[in-house]
Amino acid sequence: MSTVKKTKSTAKKPAVKKPAAAPAASVATKAAAGAQNHDGAEGSGVRRRDFIHVAAVSFAGVGAAAVAMPLVSQMSASADVLALASIEVDVAAIQPGQSIKTSWRKQPVFIRNLTPAEIEEANKVDVGSLRDPQTLAERTKPGKENWLITLGVCTHLGCVPLGAAAGEVKGEYGGYFCPCHGSHYDTAARIRKGPAPLNLAVPEFAFISDTVVKIG
Ligand code: FES
Repeated sequence: MSTVKKTKSTAKKPAVKKPAAAPAASVATKAAAGAQNHDGAEGSGVRRRDFIHVAAVSFAGVGAAAVAMPLVSQMSASADVLALASIEVDVAAIQPGQSIKTSWRKQPVFIRNLTPAEIEEANKVDVGSLRDPQTLAERTKPGKENWLITLGVCTHLGCVPLGAAAGEVKGEYGGYFCPCHGSHYDTAARIRKGPAPLNLAVPEFAFISDTVVKIG
């Protein structure tokens, strides 16, 4: 197979490239002849031009590298940006019924340990009746349905809803309440009432141990 391809490529090359290659070859031959036949001023002139050409190319190469370095360093993320790319939170101290607020990529995040009653409340809802239909299971991890992790950003206009801190109003559905324009979220942080079009967003997350969750 490979033999056949090689034969074809060598057969085509002369037909296409010969006319263009001929002058270059003749120039190269003349230059070489000049260098060989004139060991005096002209021969050293050719070598000097060659040196200038090589030096110019080398310098251009260094220049390109010098320009490329800042671009590469600009493209690589700084350490603090990388640190914000994901966070790890130990949730062991969050009791059922409690929530905490944390921050990830400069956005508030709610981590909530749902009680059995709150899980039941979320599961008995007719999902088809929801504005943004999702089950609690779809918004949590298998075996960890009590851990509801969402962005603390109202999907209406971006306010931070209430309900994550102790004593805050949780709204008519026991989840979160955004007082800006009156959006109510249920115990699965799904929109149930008010102008917000979508449920509170669930970020990418995974439990990396029984109690430590990695967000991002
Ligand atoms: S921003 Fe939350 S209801 Fe308007």
